[in-house]
Amino acid sequence: MSFLELAKARYSCRKLTDKPIEPEKVERLLQAAIAAPTAKNAQRYTIWQIKSPEAFDKLKQATPYTFGSALAFVVGAQKDGAFDRPFDNKNFAEVDAAIVATHLMLAIQDEGLGTTWVGWFDAPKMQQLFPEMQGYDLIAVFPVGYPAEDAKPHVRHEDRRPLSEVVVEL
Ligand SMILES: Cc1cc2nc3c(=O)[nH]c(=O)nc-3n(C[C@H](O)[C@H](O)[C@H](O)COP(=O)(O)O)c2cc1C
Repeated sequence: MSFLELAKARYSCRKLTDKPIEPEKVERLLQAAIAAPTAKNAQRYTIWQIKSPEAFDKLKQATPYTFGSALAFVVGAQKDGAFDRPFDNKNFAEVDAAIVATHLMLAIQDEGLGTTWVGWFDAPKMQQLFPEMQGYDLIAVFPVGYPAEDAKPHVRHEDRRPLSEVVVEL
């Protein structure tokens, strides 16, 4: 499958199963994530793997969007130590973490699994439940699982602004 085919095949899968995911698949997801580039190679991010039933129960207290899965990843960005652009003091921690998260999301698709990038979660509550996450900007939760047999994209999944609108030739 070409990259374009993979990118187009991905959709926000909101009906997952709790069928266990092979450890070698999880390893490949994480390898894809750490292959992501970061500004000045600072790599100031953490991926938490929410795996144990206890941890998963806590995650469910912070977001309703786990879609039936039994595994999830949380991605966090740490400003401290990330690249600061000197001209405007822009800190790149969240940009870096978003690239890592995107690698992870597309690798999930590549492994025949499903996910949705979830931004709707109570971040302060998450940090209270998982003190390890304090000091991070939490940018994404990815519930991961094999898609349910009747999983399908949202009706608006194909809606995209046209190239003529989003690309500006100068
Ligand atoms: C940063 C970000 C946050 C999102 N948060 C949520 C969320 O909390 N819950 C949800 O169901 N979908 C969430 N989504 C999924 C988007 O709604 C979805 O990507 C968009 O509607 C396009 O659909 P598609 O992913 O099927 O192409 C999020 C996506 C992104 C990129």
